[in-house]
Amino acid sequence: MADTANESSFVAFERVQKSYDGENLVVKDLNLAMPKGEFLTMLGPSGSGKTTCLMMLAGFETATHGEIKLDGRPINNIPPHKRGIGMVFQNYALFPHMTVAENLAFPLEVRKIGKSDREKKITRALDMVEMGNFGGRRPAQLSGGQQQRIALARALVFEPELVLMDEPLGALDKQLRETLQFEITNLAHRLGITVVYVTHDQTEALTMSDRVAVFDDGRIQQLAPPDQLYESPENSFVAQFIGENNTLEGVIKEVKGDTCIVQLDSGDVIDAKPVNVSKAGERTKVSIRPERVEYNKDRLQEGAHTLKAEVMEFIYMGDIFRTRLKVAGKEDFVMKTRNAPDQVRLTPGSQIEIGWLPDDCRALDA
Ligand SMILES: Nc1ncnc2c1ncn2[C@@H]1O[C@H](COP(=O)(O)OP(=O)(O)OP(=O)(O)O)[C@@H](O)[C@H]1O
Ligand SMILES: [Mg+2]
Repeated sequence: MADTANESSFVAFERVQKSYDGENLVVKDLNLAMPKGEFLTMLGPSGSGKTTCLMMLAGFETATHGEIKLDGRPINNIPPHKRGIGMVFQNYALFPHMTVAENLAFPLEVRKIGKSDREKKITRALDMVEMGNFGGRRPAQLSGGQQQRIALARALVFEPELVLMDEPLGALDKQLRETLQFEITNLAHRLGITVVYVTHDQTEALTMSDRVAVFDDGRIQQLAPPDQLYESPENSFVAQFIGENNTLEGVIKEVKGDTCIVQLDSGDVIDAKPVNVSKAGERTKVSIRPERVEYNKDRLQEGAHTLKAEVMEFIYMGDIFRTRLKVAGKEDFVMKTRNAPDQVRLTPGSQIEIGWLPDDCRALDA
């Protein structure tokens, strides 16, 4: 879960804690190491400490304990504008009284870059976000998406090695978000920029990132590439927070190597993979993704336990079928099946049997 820094880490948080009031820790023992060029997203509920971490990295807040390093050097004593970090915030924060070109010139002037160099860099940055003809406009004369592109260009204009983005697309509509998500990741990879990105939106996190750090309560709950996070959540919080998830509660009856037997509170018995449970008697929440639920017996492992289920609702969604089932006394169990020519459309009221591969059913902390 925690990630240890080594010489090749470009960004490193080492045992970082933060308290604003001297009492409550809003960031608790944070360890995180990023190689150069990585696109890392911090994802988590409101108040979990994401912005605080960005602010400490940018130099607008100081860590209460621990150390933050950039390219191997502690940055605690380096002022923000000397850290070579570009920033993009949710509300663009363009200077309204300045033109687009003047907005982009500002970070260059702060860094004492001469006029002719400045002009070249501004042109290049505007071209990069396809806004080359907009240098003379003021922010109020641009659409939301255009303003966001300018904010991005302003963060990139002085060629930072590290860019921090805090919910940069939060205010935009879905289509524009998706376009800009694609543009931002492309640009970052093309320029080899290291990015720390903050979002509430899990689809955004999964689609844009090399790795995602799931935050809760001031801690990283799991740090992993998107597919691992979705398919192998390490605890109940992550399983619930990322993607759709079915949860069944029960007690571990037996652990045998990499499988275990769980007796659900309904009395039913199922097979699961022990993840962060270790012995008989422990309470557990088992987690099963809706698309891993099988009712076709041919696709189940021999000898696997199955459960009786009653079809409550069938929803046709075009590409997939979403079937709500009553399973082990719970009526909110969801099964997703692909819309294929041979796929059955189940009718409410029918009785079926479901199961899964034990690897797809994870016994997690209760
Ligand atoms: N300047 C501050 N002074 C005191 N407390 C603060 C300050 N900034 C943030 N906090 C508190 O620190 C905690 C973490 O806040 P932070 O802004 O880092 O959360 P976040 O994960 O970015 O949340 P959101 O998704 O809502 O932006 C919250 O409980 C918040 O109230
Ligand atoms: Mg925030």
